[in-house]
Amino acid sequence: MARLAIFASGNGSNAQRITEYFTGHPTISINLILSNRPDAYVLHRAEGLGIPARVFNRTTLYETSDIPALLMKYQIDFIILAGFLWLIPQNLLTLYTGRIINIHPALLPKYGGKGMYGMKVHEAVIASGEHESGITVHYVDENYDEGQIIFQAKCIVSEADTPESLASRIHELEYRYFPEVIEKVVTSDK
Ligand code: GAR
Repeated sequence: MARLAIFASGNGSNAQRITEYFTGHPTISINLILSNRPDAYVLHRAEGLGIPARVFNRTTLYETSDIPALLMKYQIDFIILAGFLWLIPQNLLTLYTGRIINIHPALLPKYGGKGMYGMKVHEAVIASGEHESGITVHYVDENYDEGQIIFQAKCIVSEADTPESLASRIHELEYRYFPEVIEKVVTSDK
């Protein structure tokens, strides 16, 4: 069984979708949800889903080995970033080389980098007059949104779109594809 941890900073709708997708899966399970925000809605979702959840702060993540120790305790094989907004520190990159996957709500390399997350991405896409946007699933490295791209899917951006309407279209793409892409990556590992 491949055991996965999900890191999420906010709402956690992707975390929920992924967890539901893998419920009862023969070879992949979601075993831990981690958040950097004590008030993140994803923590309520974790409770409802019956998945253990933990909150950590900057000091814990960047200056201790508590998170690697926790991941070891839960025998985690892969880390999934689903709306997680902090850089992953070197200790985790070393421990999970090629086994940390992020989703970004735009077609990288455009509209990525520090500060580009959630609604800010959609606002920038619309402000630039783009006719298409989409999602990017990629491996995580030491920079924001720069790791090797695994998968992209596109959608149309219309003149009438608002950041909210675009966000909802992008979320639909995420729900549709992210769990399947995770499944393919995890299944083809080793
Ligand atoms: C998702 O759209 C995800 O792609 C994005 O945050 C949203 C989280 O939604 N991630 C980033 O912007 C990372 N740079 P959710 O909490 O409902 O899953």
